[in-house]
Amino acid sequence: MAFHALEQLSRLHDGYMKAFQVERLKLLLIHEAGKTYLIENRCPHMDVPLTMGQLLPEGKIRCMAHGIEFDLGSGKAGGPLADTLDCLQHFKLAYEGSSVGVEL
Ligand code: FES
Repeated sequence: MAFHALEQLSRLHDGYMKAFQVERLKLLLIHEAGKTYLIENRCPHMDVPLTMGQLLPEGKIRCMAHGIEFDLGSGKAGGPLADTLDCLQHFKLAYEGSSVGVEL
């Protein structure tokens, strides 16, 4: 496993969202309400990138394609399709020095 730095910790702030590609993985680093998340940059509904999603103050992201909201903590979808959709795929954050990243 190797550490892949994604961002300087000092650059994270509420509302931060940035896409990265590490090897074949498309990732989305998010910081909202004081918490940092690393998820696959793909909506479980129809595989649309979540890059253009809207962060909501209660720790959710709304996919702009069809408006489904996902809880960033649990990854679960809300609304009528909640039980039919996969959860957002999370990746464990790793830290090295002043950087946040992922170990792959
Ligand atoms: S592709 Fe994201 S809500 Fe449909």
